[in-house]
Amino acid sequence: MDTKYFTIDSENIDANALMEAGKLIKDGGLVAFPTETVYGLGGDALNPLSSKKIYAAKGRPSDNPLIVHIADLNDLYTIAEEVPKEALALADKYWPGPLTMIFKKKDIVPYETTGGLDTVAVRLPSHKVARQFIKAAGGFVAAPSANLSGRPSPTTATHVKDDMDGRIDAIIDAGSCDIGLESTIVDFTGDTPMLLRPGYVSLKMLTEVLESVDKDPAVFGDNKEGLKPKAPGMKYRHYAPKGELTIVSGDRERVSEYILAKITQKGSDSRIGVITCKDTVDLYKAADYVGDIGNRDDEMMIAARLYDILRECDENKIDEIYSEEFDTPQMGLAIMNRLIKAAGHKIVKL
Ligand code: TXA
Ligand code: MG
Repeated sequence: MDTKYFTIDSENIDANALMEAGKLIKDGGLVAFPTETVYGLGGDALNPLSSKKIYAAKGRPSDNPLIVHIADLNDLYTIAEEVPKEALALADKYWPGPLTMIFKKKDIVPYETTGGLDTVAVRLPSHKVARQFIKAAGGFVAAPSANLSGRPSPTTATHVKDDMDGRIDAIIDAGSCDIGLESTIVDFTGDTPMLLRPGYVSLKMLTEVLESVDKDPAVFGDNKEGLKPKAPGMKYRHYAPKGELTIVSGDRERVSEYILAKITQKGSDSRIGVITCKDTVDLYKAADYVGDIGNRDDEMMIAARLYDILRECDENKIDEIYSEEFDTPQMGLAIMNRLIKAAGHKIVKL
């Protein structure tokens, strides 16, 4: 199929173009669109055939449910049953924005969209283009991240093109995503709200509104018991570059020594990449690729650059990647959650 491209200026939105893109969704097609977190691969959330197409385009297992994106808080009640007061309080503070909440679903939401679950994940994004597009598409857009299953989430339209060109009807290009990591997910279907996936909205920000919040034990901690994550997507090896990624954690000097030794010892047929901060980029000049993730104290930049750098490792055909740890105050939990999954839990502690 020929993928159509819409280039949209967020400051001067072309309403006609978004109407055209919205119509593609209403007609059962798939359109990738920008949000403040990552690009989404949108289809009509209330049309089971659209959701099936999304799974096929991504190569995603169909037991992994999709997030339904809305543009108006009132639309929540069309798809969700039993919205607790605490969820409304969170919505009041963090919607529109990078937060997804899970509720019991109403019958109108097909099981194809929820991966067979009786619950539905809902998000009201803040990105202006996303919201106008959702409205033009009929108000309920199911969208996973617009990457091929297993690849890092796309934070630019070029990333989406690399994975999805020829597989979907259209791509809306409105530049790069501000946050660069997927939304925080909180489940409201149990007795206590539970954090299922960390994101920009941190635990501290959640506890400013919620009396208490649990963390999914399968996602946080070492999960020695081998529990199944409540968000099915969290069980897959995700976000992964093609090269073998190792996280090197510990005292900064020892980390540098370790990585430099790896570069020196490398075999002639192996290409080595390093993910590090601006202040230490020069140290690793001898590597085949050095990903400069930004200033050590600029966590917004670190989060926004992470997936781009993982993709750059692939473009540079890197076989072995060594990354420092980025334990930042607000987004550190989210950044390290994605990095650890990309590394398939391979961490060297020094
Ligand atoms: O920021 C985001 O959330 C992006 C943008 C496009 O909005 N979307 C995104 O979608 O990250 P996706 O499909 O890549 O991740 C959705 C996650 C998966 O881990 C999935 O298992 C979980 O949400 N999820 C969706 N519905 C769920 C439900 N009813 N119960 C538990 N987990 C659910
Ligand atoms: Mg995803």
